[in-house]
Amino acid sequence: MLSNIKTISLNGIDGNLVEVQTDISGGLPNFEIVGLPDASVKESKERIRVSIKNSGIDLPSRRILINLAPANTKKEGTSYDLPIAIGILDALGEILYKNLENTIFIGELSLDGKINRINGILPMCIEAMNLGIKRVIIPKANEREAAVIEGLQIIGVNTLKEVIDYLNKKNDIKETHIDIIKIFNKKNKNDIDFSEVRGQENVKRALEISAAGGHNCILIGSPGSGKTMIARRIPTILPDLTFEEALEVTKIHSISGMLDSSIGIVAQRPFRSPHHTISTTSMIGGGKIPKPGEISLAHNGVLFLDELPEFNRNTLEVLRGPLEDRNVTISRLHSKVIYPSNFMLIASMNPCPCGYYGSLEKQCQCSKIAIQKYLNKISGPLLDRIDIHIEVKPVKYQKLNSNNKEETSKQIKERVNNARRIQYIRYKNTNIFSNSELTPKMIEQYCILDNECKKILELAFNKLGLSARAYTRILKVSRTIADLDNKRNIEKSHLAEAIQYRNLDKKYGDKF
Ligand SMILES: Nc1ncnc2c1ncn2[C@@H]1O[C@H](COP(=O)(O)OP(=O)(O)OP(=O)(O)O)[C@@H](O)[C@H]1O
Ligand SMILES: [Mg+2]
Ligand SMILES: [Zn+2]
Repeated sequence: MLSNIKTISLNGIDGNLVEVQTDISGGLPNFEIVGLPDASVKESKERIRVSIKNSGIDLPSRRILINLAPANTKKEGTSYDLPIAIGILDALGEILYKNLENTIFIGELSLDGKINRINGILPMCIEAMNLGIKRVIIPKANEREAAVIEGLQIIGVNTLKEVIDYLNKKNDIKETHIDIIKIFNKKNKNDIDFSEVRGQENVKRALEISAAGGHNCILIGSPGSGKTMIARRIPTILPDLTFEEALEVTKIHSISGMLDSSIGIVAQRPFRSPHHTISTTSMIGGGKIPKPGEISLAHNGVLFLDELPEFNRNTLEVLRGPLEDRNVTISRLHSKVIYPSNFMLIASMNPCPCGYYGSLEKQCQCSKIAIQKYLNKISGPLLDRIDIHIEVKPVKYQKLNSNNKEETSKQIKERVNNARRIQYIRYKNTNIFSNSELTPKMIEQYCILDNECKKILELAFNKLGLSARAYTRILKVSRTIADLDNKRNIEKSHLAEAIQYRNLDKKYGDKF
């Protein structure tokens, strides 16, 4: 007898329909899976055989042939266990109710018949929805993740026996529902706040601009000046996620198996801070069964690289492409996967190996060559992609000890959200959301300067020795400053402030 059961495979962050075709016939007892299964799928045979037996059903000694169609795409992972087991049971006549065309089965089996959680349920279920599927039968541990999607009947199951009984109408399993809007709107309380940072008004201002326009930013300062402390507070002022953005982030976290199964959706912008010993693969993604890297986990949020020059130069170099394209392509032997990686890069560094180059507190001990070598660890093209450079000077003791009330993260975030709203409206009919994403053509359209501003910019270039690469950066940042100021046009003060944020171009000039 032949059976057709549907499941979904994963490719990058997208799902694809796979049909599990099962044929059971006489002849020598055999169990074969065809249709490009990799080793992990082939291994499922034993799990399926034993878990069917442990669900109280005897597998007859016959020839079982499974074809995973389409046969020309590679199948990997353990999520085919459940659909294959159901295919076999269906072909054996153990499933009484046949209309399974509108049902998707996904899940990994253990030997005792338990159904284990798998990674990537959300993108799989989104594809099921797109295909017009009515019902998905998935691991209980994944049910809240799938329930993010409305209009799909979600049946979370614990064991193979439970699925068989459910399909044979011997038991009833309630559909899973969650109030996704309620979860989405419930904002986490942060236990850190910008008001704890004394002084540093200029640094806070730069980060407010960064958050408002999605601009990459580097903090440069001597040891102990507060770079790490300040950067860690950035999540508290990031603009709220839109629901669409949250779904994208959740998809990636679902594939990585990092989703909190009790919540179901990532409602906060991610803030990822990998250690400088991170491998290139962990940074950009990849591996035998491909996984998103840190740059994709930071999608729609922040990638914080503390002590930038300590990172492996290669690991930093591979960031260049994704910073430009806002996604990353991972090539594999016969295929490639694309993960989104639209992140805001925040980096910190000392100005030189000893940390005191250009400082007023201490004399720098480094030779010119040593500084050069240190800076060379970060290539010009990488720095080229950073819009805002900000010098962090240590605060004076009086400031540290003062009773001045500092602004709270909530107050800053309100202004950031306002500026973002202006950008959302302005870029409504384009494919971008923030000023940092402006293409050269769009810059011509949205960052128009009057004659007076043009003169200032020209002067800055000639007098301060700014590099050509600084040009578009300055215009984009000016646009964000104007948005924070609620102004339609870029004005002199906006431009002048943006020029200030090209510290490294000025300080090190052609060293980069
Ligand atoms: N502006 C400030 N307000 C309050 N505390 C501060 C401030 N600046 C620094 N500190 C205190 O100094 C500590 C050290 O700062 P932090 O570790 O952020 O410095 P850093 O610039 O990252 O140094 P390094 O280059 O050595 O990594 C902080 O944990 C904090 O306690
Ligand atoms: Mg630090
Ligand atoms: Zn030094």
